[in-house]
Amino acid sequence: MFMTIRVNISGAHTIGISHCSSFTTRLYNFTGVGDQDPALDSEYAANLKARKCRSLNDNTTIVEMDPGSFRTFDLSYYSLLLKRRGLFQSDSALTTNSATLSFVKQLLKGSLQNFFAEFANSMEKMGRINVKTGTTGEIRKHCAVVNS
Ligand code: HEM
Repeated sequence: MFMTIRVNISGAHTIGISHCSSFTTRLYNFTGVGDQDPALDSEYAANLKARKCRSLNDNTTIVEMDPGSFRTFDLSYYSLLLKRRGLFQSDSALTTNSATLSFVKQLLKGSLQNFFAEFANSMEKMGRINVKTGTTGEIRKHCAVVNS
């Protein structure tokens, strides 16, 4: 169940923009030896390096998460995943795991209406997770890291 929620909610990356700093290690220093993430389509990577994120330290340039249709809530994000063109490592991870990969393919075979229903359903499920508030919780400055 959580597997499908993860795939559905990641579909939010079908709209909007990101900052180079969220993925430049994939382009320039994937394992710390100045290398590129082999899971990323090399043509796409070359393009990003030449036109968008020209260095590892670029933290101002913005990049469309679903190039070509970044204003449209559609299935194109999932098509790009199959072409190894997911921008973040979390996107590309959806195709290296067999369970998530087959669910991605299932979404692509289904209708847009089906995706909308799946997405809405998963958002509602996430909304039912008891969020900690007040002194029992904390609002993170960076979503992936506990505040220091
Ligand atoms: C409603 C759901 C979601 C929305 C609206 C959303 C939106 C965004 C946006 C706007 C960015 C770009 C940040 C930037 O570079 O400025 C981003 C980055 C990212 N998203 Fe999502 N996302 C969603 C769900 C998810 C899910 C389910 C995952 C993983 C399981 C995920 C993982 C990431 C990662 C790893 C990044 C890279 C930057 C970072 O770590 O902060 N997102 N997302």
